[in-house]
Amino acid sequence: MGGRLRRGDLTALARLPRARAYGVLARLQRRRWYRPLARRLTGPLDAREATMAEDREVRERWPREGHAASGPHSQVTTYVALAGERVVGWCYLQRNDEDTVFPGYVLAGIYVRARHRGLGLARQLMHVLIDCAAHEGALDVLLVVDEANMAAINLYASMGFTVAVDPPWTTRMEEVQRRYGVRRVVMRMPLRG
Ligand SMILES: CC(C)(COP(=O)(O)OP(=O)(O)OC[C@H]1O[C@@H](n2cnc3c(N)ncnc32)[C@H](O)[C@@H]1OP(=O)(O)O)[C@@H](O)C(=O)NCCC(=O)NCCS
Repeated sequence: MGGRLRRGDLTALARLPRARAYGVLARLQRRRWYRPLARRLTGPLDAREATMAEDREVRERWPREGHAASGPHSQVTTYVALAGERVVGWCYLQRNDEDTVFPGYVLAGIYVRARHRGLGLARQLMHVLIDCAAHEGALDVLLVVDEANMAAINLYASMGFTVAVDPPWTTRMEEVQRRYGVRRVVMRMPLRG
């Protein structure tokens, strides 16, 4: 019957307050004053290389966010951000062969769960990743980001990444835009020399 509520409708209704709460939180996290305040009020947070169990947890519990699984041309390390014992964020360092589209050291994805954003976890994750790349002798670290993702771009810029405007990258990004309709930029951070 037309007006009858189905189970899916009820589930959607039950989710509404939560979705609204996340909307409000996301607006707060965009405010410059919120992030230092939230950091002061939060308990100890940490970021480090993932154990095998934590890496598996990230792959299995959050498949939608994707995993930079190691392919024939890359070797991947996963780093996790922890609130107490719980994994609440992660990022991947890929080491790509010279014959790949993005050769060298690449930050291949960073994600912090919505409730834990604005607390400095992404920055902690990136410090660990960059220290590791520098320790291995990397010349630089590359990443690709949607041009509209201001939270991520601000984060990368605050770490010292700048938009790479030299030909191989601009050409590749134009190709990505033609193919997928999204504007992306390559950002690069030199580590030596
Ligand atoms: C982008 C993302 C990883 C940032 O994580 P986070 O833990 O909230 O970031 P941090 O608290 O470490 O913030 C570090 C800096 O990032 C920038 N930043 C973070 N959140 C921001 C926001 N909502 N708006 C604007 N800038 C923001 C700021 O420069 C901030 O420094 P400041 O607080 O000293 O001003 C997180 O928003 C996320 O997981 N987004 C979804 C996944 C995603 O887009 N990943 C990037 C793929 S390329």
